[in-house]
Amino acid sequence: MTGATVLITGATSGIGLESARALATLGAHVVIGARDPVRGASVVDELRARGERAELLEIDVASLASIERAAARFAADHPRLDVLVNNAGIIAGKRSLSPDGHELTWATNFLGLVALTRALLPLLQATPGSRIVNVSSSAHRSGRIAWDDLELENRYSGWRAYAQSKLAVNLWTREFATRHPNVPAYAVHPGAIATNIWRVLPSFAQALVARVLPPASKGAIPIVRLATSDDIASSSGHYFDGLRDVAPAPAALRDDDAKRLWDYAEDALTAV
Ligand SMILES: NC(=O)c1ccc[n+]([C@@H]2O[C@H](COP(=O)([O-])OP(=O)(O)OC[C@H]3O[C@@H](n4cnc5c(N)ncnc54)[C@H](OP(=O)(O)O)[C@@H]3O)[C@@H](O)[C@H]2O)c1
Repeated sequence: MTGATVLITGATSGIGLESARALATLGAHVVIGARDPVRGASVVDELRARGERAELLEIDVASLASIERAAARFAADHPRLDVLVNNAGIIAGKRSLSPDGHELTWATNFLGLVALTRALLPLLQATPGSRIVNVSSSAHRSGRIAWDDLELENRYSGWRAYAQSKLAVNLWTREFATRHPNVPAYAVHPGAIATNIWRVLPSFAQALVARVLPPASKGAIPIVRLATSDDIASSSGHYFDGLRDVAPAPAALRDDDAKRLWDYAEDALTAV
């Protein structure tokens, strides 16, 4: 990865942090996307102390203004983007709104991913061999796109919002691959992993998760593989469960839904 520039969102903890560590060790220049600049800077310091190349990019993927600022700064400072890892994600117990008024899970896990990819697409297109890794989840299998209530104003549950957002990530990745064959894009379930994402659970369940699930370094393995392998370009638009290229849920294979979601996202992001 020497000479490659990689941007990872949500690189301050869990799978994103371990992916950043692993890719920096492989020689990449790693841009740490962090909503908390203090924690982001401490990741950068850690990597630099090991002689690796890293820098901070402050970005809140739930805020379209923050995404726009971060993408502009990135493009001003970097002539290339080899890998965009859209990793930042949440499960939110209670329904709340992003700074732009979108339901927070939808804004963070889906709209932010789309907005950042759109903003950096010219740079990705200008970088030979670039690719996008969208961190999805096997939770998409229980997801349903609620076309009449995408932001779940009714019957909200944290899991319902999460599963829908990850199904949307898979559909959008599939449609992106059709529309942009020159930039491979993959959706990946990193495995069920012990990270802060489970802080939404009651404390006894969090303790159990910490004991039984594998550590974040294991969740980074499939992401690093998709970020670095040369033999997967023909799998653009596919869903990976860990290292395996597998069929996602049937709902993630509906081309009409993929197009509809694409159009919805274009409208939602150009309306602001
Ligand atoms: N852990 C699992 O079992 C599992 C399974 C399937 C998929 N995933 C996916 O893996 C990805 C990484 O999650 P994780 O498990 O590593 O959880 P995590 O430890 O909670 O890490 C999530 C990262 O996303 C960042 N983030 C959250 N909201 C953000 C925002 N608005 N703007 C910028 N960054 C934001 C967090 O920043 P802070 O540090 O500031 O909170 C953190 O760095 C997520 O997309 C998740 O859905 C995880």
